[in-house]
Amino acid sequence: MWRRSFLKIILATPLGRLIAGIAASLATATAIYLDISHIDMRKPQRISGVEVFLPYPKLRGTVSVEEALANRRSVREYRDEPITLEELGQLLWAAYGISETRYGLRTAPSAGAQYPLEVYAVVGEWGVAAGDGYLAAGVYHYEPHRHSLTLRKSGDFRRELYRAALDQRWVLEAPVSIVFTAVFARTTRVYGERGRLRYVPMDLGHAAQNVYLQATALGLGTVAVGAFYDEDVAEILGLSEEETPLYIMPVGKPAAYYKLSERELVQYYERRRR
Ligand SMILES: Cc1cc2nc3c(=O)[nH]c(=O)nc-3n(C[C@H](O)[C@H](O)[C@H](O)COP(=O)(O)O)c2cc1C
Repeated sequence: MWRRSFLKIILATPLGRLIAGIAASLATATAIYLDISHIDMRKPQRISGVEVFLPYPKLRGTVSVEEALANRRSVREYRDEPITLEELGQLLWAAYGISETRYGLRTAPSAGAQYPLEVYAVVGEWGVAAGDGYLAAGVYHYEPHRHSLTLRKSGDFRRELYRAALDQRWVLEAPVSIVFTAVFARTTRVYGERGRLRYVPMDLGHAAQNVYLQATALGLGTVAVGAFYDEDVAEILGLSEEETPLYIMPVGKPAAYYKLSERELVQYYERRRR
């Protein structure tokens, strides 16, 4: 269960870490908390490795798959508001979370179940509301099997990401961006070049569409951004040589909602059937 009192998490400050530490020590087995036990408190600037357990995903929503398909659009204008940690967790679960518990199969299909993708969240300052506070700005890595985020880099990297994405404003303005990368070798060692040219991009499309549909179902907006300088995004995320960035998906509350009515759709078809 979500414990609001545990999450006054401004991790970038010593006070924030102190509060998180108290929260961690108070947390029960079912609580969402921050595991900071492995952090060397004598070096307060070194906070990478902090793990944030995300609220468990919900398997029931209020929007049908048909409505999500009909109302999905690429959204590039967001309200100046945060999304919640629950929403971020739900989006990450939809992207690449666990949907089968024997083998750890995922919400998105993957060639040979090799799962070449990695998923990151670039969280802006005040971008993700968590309990009474906010998730600390930073670059986080999603761990599907623990449904958690691990802080890789502290700070607001949205401006760097926006620059890397050819100044696409929505990357700067969204409170958070989900970024997909791939370790191509996981798939090419099984399928060779076919894995590189076909299977990994296909895997990515499945996972990214899940984000689009889940965002729509949550009343959020996103857009798949494929235009960016690979090396710059890799540096922002702190990627190793073997990992390639593929998509940036800014997420936020849409400035305007798109809604398709059945009547409008039927009229569209009828005009073309004449
Ligand atoms: C491979 C790919 C790359 C894309 N790259 C960008 C991008 O860099 N910036 C952007 O604003 N939209 C990007 N888009 C979103 C498309 O512009 C959008 O899907 C298209 O205009 C259709 O609109 P819709 O998504 O609302 O149906 C990309 C989409 C795909 C599939």
